Amino acid sequence: MNETIDLMLAHSSVRRFTDEPIERADLEAIITAGRAASSWKNFQSYSIIVIQSEEKKQALYDLVPQPAILQAKAILFFVGDHNRASKAAELHGTDFDAKGTENLLISSVDASLAGQNALLAAESLGYGGVFIGMIRHQALAMAELFNLPDYTYPIFCIALGLPAQAHPVKPRLATEAIVFEEEYVEQDIEIIKSYDQIQTVYAGDRQTELWSERIVAQFGQAEQAETKVILEKNKLS
Ligand SMILES: Cc1cc2nc3c(=O)[nH]c(=O)nc-3n(C[C@H](O)[C@H](O)[C@H](O)COP(=O)(O)O)c2cc1C
Repeated sequence: MNETIDLMLAHSSVRRFTDEPIERADLEAIITAGRAASSWKNFQSYSIIVIQSEEKKQALYDLVPQPAILQAKAILFFVGDHNRASKAAELHGTDFDAKGTENLLISSVDASLAGQNALLAAESLGYGGVFIGMIRHQALAMAELFNLPDYTYPIFCIALGLPAQAHPVKPRLATEAIVFEEEYVEQDIEIIKSYDQIQTVYAGDRQTELWSERIVAQFGQAEQAETKVILEKNKLS
């Protein structure tokens, strides 16, 4: 179609990286492109911590043992951030209350748009990467390790580097299962079964469980992440 859409359609998460570094200019371009994303009322309610030291990567890996973290040449740590907003309240001498679901959505959506922009920019430069949301299961330790102040919380990391592996693009749900005309169309269970089959064929030997079993593992029990705790501690809930 065009270069941009081709790049988007070629996306596949990369979890293994070579030893080649990421050029400083490239990293800056990736971050600048990330930050060019839209944000709620231009609040830009997130911060990005750039992690490159072996020491910090190791500390992060000790908490979230995913090989991509150790192998990455740079990790972008996205923080939901209403701390700057608290400074605006200070400036105007007004009350400040950033608690609540809507405020959580504002910062989480802003960070997600910036993160996706950044990953695409990285892919356009020949790098690969993967989002790492599992950091939220260690939210309290993350807050301590990265010195997160009041009104902030960890959202996800993006591990980046030059790809040492290439997977074929992962098939998505059928268009009609996810894109509706004019109104919502509730799906029946067949759509789940048929996507399980598609994923099984795609994953081949690498498959350990069905796609629908992974969903059940996530949503079949009360949430495990520490996000609720960090939100309370940092005055966002
Ligand atoms: C918010 C978010 C968090 C994710 N967290 C992880 C993670 O902790 N570990 C991991 O290996 N992949 C993680 N992923 C990557 C997804 O598993 C991946 O995007 C999905 O399986 C689709 O595959 P693809 O990106 O190769 O198309 C995450 C993706 C998103 C959007």
